[in-house]
This record gives sequence, structure tokens and C-alpha cells, in this order.
Amino acid sequence: MDFSIKPLDAKNGYATFKTGCIAVAVFDDKTLSAAAKALDSKGEIQAALKSGDITGKPGSALLLRNLSGIAAERVLLVGLGKPGAITEKDFTSALQATARTFATLGGGDAIVALPFDSVAKRDANWAIHCFILAARDGAYRPDTMKSKKEPVTGGVKKIAFAIDTKQAASARETVAQAIATANGIELTKELGNLPANVCTPTYLANTAKKMAREFKLTAEILDRKQLQALKMGSFLSVTNGSVEPPKFIVLKHSGGKAKEAPIVLVGKGITFDSGGISIKPGAAMDEMKYDMGGAAAVLGTMRAIAEMNLPLNVIVVIPACENMPSGSATKPGDIVTSMSGQTIEVLNTDAEGRLVLCDALTYVERFKPALVIDAATLTGACITALGHHNSGLFTRNDDVHDALANELLAAGKAAGDTAWRMPIEDSYQEQLKSNFADMGNIGGPAAGSVTAACFLERYTRKYTWAHLDIAGTAWKSGAAKGSTGRPVPLLTAFLLGRAKAAKAR
Ligand code: BES
Ligand code: MN
Ligand code: ZN
Repeated sequence: MDFSIKPLDAKNGYATFKTGCIAVAVFDDKTLSAAAKALDSKGEIQAALKSGDITGKPGSALLLRNLSGIAAERVLLVGLGKPGAITEKDFTSALQATARTFATLGGGDAIVALPFDSVAKRDANWAIHCFILAARDGAYRPDTMKSKKEPVTGGVKKIAFAIDTKQAASARETVAQAIATANGIELTKELGNLPANVCTPTYLANTAKKMAREFKLTAEILDRKQLQALKMGSFLSVTNGSVEPPKFIVLKHSGGKAKEAPIVLVGKGITFDSGGISIKPGAAMDEMKYDMGGAAAVLGTMRAIAEMNLPLNVIVVIPACENMPSGSATKPGDIVTSMSGQTIEVLNTDAEGRLVLCDALTYVERFKPALVIDAATLTGACITALGHHNSGLFTRNDDVHDALANELLAAGKAAGDTAWRMPIEDSYQEQLKSNFADMGNIGGPAAGSVTAACFLERYTRKYTWAHLDIAGTAWKSGAAKGSTGRPVPLLTAFLLGRAKAAKAR
């Protein structure tokens, strides 16, 4: 799919655009957007609205052919709801309807001429970004493992956005950024959807190495021996039952000044979570191939920002392994020593995410990070709390962390990849008490996602840190089973914001 900008000026108006299809907006009070008016010299669009063929409700669509006096072959009327300041939600429905119709049209090219400038609190760049992500999302097929791919029939391959000449340069930058973000999301989806017998820790490590070659990043992969030397007893205890070797992945993008402290992204990389000796029930256990969703998302985010060559120093860190039962597996009650020196009583081997993350969170201290964000499919309890709409966002409660939380929440909102803040408080820490070790790895049935975050908090006291529990958002179950690519949009928007601030400095 190819995206570009079609500059609008006095000479090049909507009616002169030679294209397979031009998409314009109509409203639910039967009025036309400026672009629709420009194509309606003979009143044909007005007549379609009057006839009731299209309501103008958000997301409604009607395709017309051979309108008089215009160069475009087809006009796609798209409903945008109420005229005036258009809500984000209505605009998104219209974009999705447009992308969906484009995907079914006879091949060729199309122009989107929606009122990008009329979205409440957002600008044209936001609208273009949304459109590109929606179109790429609709075009993705999880068919890598199918022996016969369904042939792609029809669909518009080249899409241009009609934008005033004055805004064309910034819109072009937006197009490039949105394509990079879509490429990152696609990598994340692909890694998530691949089965655990293909997407192993070694496969994730090779993906990082490949990215390093393609985007001039540096990749370092630590193996079991090196992890033993680092005394990552907690991480290694999770790998005990598995024959797949663990990998600890470090991938660096050095786009900022040499002395600038890096932003570190840590991703949970459990390529299959059987639960270990505390084995999970069989139903839907296949979905535990998605337990590397955090790892996939930080790699996808890296792919996006490396393609954009953002002027930031960013380091991705992934503890990757399987969680399997066997005669050599860690047993409930075993006590392990983490890299930080803190001892952990493994009361449930299925609470393995925190066990791999805590050592990664200690390891990243060496980078003297500006901040650390981890993303993890950490707890079923987070799904109980927030469902599948919001990722859980956890930080400490001081000024620095409140500011970081707000920045992440705003990035998620802008990117349509939202998070909701959850508490970290000392009162919950008490649930992690162990009679025999410094802490247990579970905090009982109450507030499971909070106690998991409290566990991680104990390993992050040397830097600014945020935790995203993406258990409910990283993939979909049921008929539409598949990776969502979240939270790549949130993380990428956050880093884009940081890059903008860095440039302004
Ligand atoms: N990977 C799971 C969390 C998970 C479960 C994500 C279902 C998405 C859907 C994690 O390792 C886990 O098993 N957590 C346990 C923790 C419990 C034993 C304290 C859970 O949530 O049940
Ligand atoms: Mn588990
Ligand atoms: Zn897990």
C-alpha cells in the first residue's frame, strides 16, 4: 500500500483530480463538506442525500460513479455525523468506512478528501495518521503459516490525502511517520501470531539481530552462561523446565546525543506460558503463545522509531524464555535469588512474568536511564479490572511519576491505544510477604494486577519507571483471534512526543 499527499491550491481543486475514487464527507443534516460541494456542480450528490440513499450518520458510505464535470471516476460519500467540530469517534468511524470501501474497489488509486481540519482538538496530521493505521490494519493477514495464501483481489493500492499546499510538508512527514508506525505494528502482530514452536526465544533474538542490520542498531544477545554470571537467578528459574535456550536481548538505537540518558523499554518475552508446574487449564492455552506480547511490542516500537530515525537514545531489553513443566522445572515453594540480591519464594510457577522482568529491571540500572517503561502480558487480573479496552498503567505516586503517567495516558489517547492508571501503594505491598524469603511471587486473589506491579516496583527504585499490563489488550480471542499490535501506537506516540521536545530544545 502506498500513501502520499495531493496538494490542493487554486489550480488543483477537487474536481480536477484524476483518480479511481475520491472520498468526501456528507453530514447527517444533509449538508455537504467543502470538497463534496466542489464535486456537485450538477446537484447529484445533493440528490443522493435527499433520496435517503445515504444518511450521513458516522460510518455510512455510498459509492457514486460518473458524476458530471469531474475528473474522478468514482465519488465515495462518507457520513461524518454532525457538521462543525467533528468528534474523534465519528471521524474514526468515517475513516474506517472509507478504508473498508477502498479495500473492495477495483484496483488503482484513490484520494481521501475528508475535512481533516475539522476534528475537535486534533489536527490534519492526526487524521492522516489514523487513516493510514486503519488501512494497514485492515490489509494485514495472519497467513504466514498457511500453505496457500488467499489471493488479494482488488482493493486500492495507492492512496493520497488532499491537503492544502501550505500544510503539505508537515503532512508528508506525518505520512512517513504513520507508515513507520504501521510497519512496527505489523512486526508486533506477526511475532505475536507466530506459533510458539516457531517464535522461540532464539527467533526473537534473531529478529533483533536482523533489525540491527537493517536499521543500524546494535544488538547484543546474552545466553544462559552470561545470565548465570550476572546472577539472574530469578529469570533463570523460569527456564528450568524448558529445552529451548533462554535469550536476553539488548537492542540499542543511538539517535540522540552521546551523553543523553536513554529511554529503556523492557518487554516480557515468555514465548509460551504453560504455567509450569502450576500448570494452566487446557482451554485456550494456545493463546499463551501471546505471552511474548510485551517483547513483540517493544521490538515493533523500535522498528517504528528506527525507521523514523528519531533523535533519541532508546534501548530495548527482553528477557525471553518458555515457562514449561518438567522434572527439572522450578517447583512451588522453591526460593530463588534475583540479580538484585532479593530472594523470592516461588509460590506459583505461573506468576513467571514478574520473575523474568525483575532481573531485566535490575540489569537496566547500568544504562542510567532517563526512564524505564516495561510492557507485559502480566496478569489475568488486569483483564478482570479493565477488560480489553485499556492497558493497565502503573507508576509510583510522586510528581515525576505523575507527570510520566499523564504523558503516557495522553500519548495513548492521541494514538487510539488507551491506558488507565492503576494504583501502586505500600498497603498492597504487604500481600507479597513470605515467611521464608524476602517476598513471595504472588499476592493472593485480591488486586492481582496491583500486587504484580508492586512486585516489579521493588526492582525499579533506582530510576523513573512505568509499567504497562497489556494482558487484556495485546491480542483478541475468539473468531477474530490475533495480535492487536498494542501498545506500539501508545509507545511510539510517546517517543514521538519526546523527540519533538528534544528537537525544540
Ligand atoms: N501470562 C499470564 C497472564 C495472562 C493470563 C495474560 C491470561 C493474559 C491472559 C501470567 O503469566 C499469569 O499466568 N499470571 C497469573 C498470575 C497468578 C498466578 C498470580 C494469572 O494472572 O493468573
Ligand atoms: Mn503465567
Ligand atoms: Zn505469563
